Amino acid sequence: MIKKGIILAGGLGTRMSPITKSVNKQLLPIYDKPLIYYPLSIFMLAGIKEILIIVNKGQTAQFKKILKNGESLGIKIQYKEQKNPNGLPEAFLLGEKFINNDCVALILGDNFFYAQSLTKSLQKATKLKNGAKVFLHPVNNPKLYGIATIKNKKIVSLKEKPSVTKSNLAVTGLYFFDKNVVKLSKTLKPSKRNELEIIDLLNKYRKKNKLTAEFLGRGGAWLDAGSIDDYYDTTSFVSAIQKRQGFKIACLEEIALNKKWINNKIMKENIKFYGNCDYSRYLKKLL
Ligand code: TTP
Repeated sequence: MIKKGIILAGGLGTRMSPITKSVNKQLLPIYDKPLIYYPLSIFMLAGIKEILIIVNKGQTAQFKKILKNGESLGIKIQYKEQKNPNGLPEAFLLGEKFINNDCVALILGDNFFYAQSLTKSLQKATKLKNGAKVFLHPVNNPKLYGIATIKNKKIVSLKEKPSVTKSNLAVTGLYFFDKNVVKLSKTLKPSKRNELEIIDLLNKYRKKNKLTAEFLGRGGAWLDAGSIDDYYDTTSFVSAIQKRQGFKIACLEEIALNKKWINNKIMKENIKFYGNCDYSRYLKKLL
């Protein structure tokens, strides 16, 4: 069972500059809550309670202000600062102590997932003991993503932003790894853009026939809220679904309460912490 997860919430946020010059992207709102609530909710739905959030140098206090040590959600949150965005696999070098020879999940702090039976697929993925698992989702423009080619349900090739490809299955920002991930990350060399590449790490697993895939399904949505257009598309999506259904997406306290990780007393403290807002009123209704 995978019990630990890392959220990568650093990065330069260049594509969203000047908005991200003084505020970290993951703290910007996606409709009615900070962006980081969405990837964190994915881990919580997966049953992952031990979480390391990687943030930019000097930004720990900002994240702590809202998520604290996780106690108010019935989880454990630690923070680690990354000096420079040297690439996604650096998460496993910075997180070596946290991982401590266990299996671990990784999610990108700006990735949004919403799909039917997602909780089931997530819980299935946390059963991984050996190898690595990625979540794939079809996209319109494969040239912009890491793309997987599948044969007989196996990943036979993985390419970063391919100029020609017959596949449209993008590798999303949610990954599950066995305990070899730290050791393998240490063998990676920086790419032409001078970053450690997640595709290179995944290819190490693929070459050993140890890379498997889950699919979000046709009705599912995966959005990378890292560009201005995708950021606003994500906000519109959340707003439309919430208004229509009356449920909130990524309400962390709701997930914690349903899982019995927190009780009504903690819930009331959380309502006090948020103050007089729509989010608090939603929490009150859950009591
Ligand atoms: P990216 O979207 O690749 O990078 P970015 O957020 O810096 O944005 P831009 O390309 O516009 O400059 O990163 C995906 C997520 O991973 C994002 O939430 C930031 C995070 N990240 C880190 O925390 N550390 C890193 O070294 C990298 C590369 C990304």
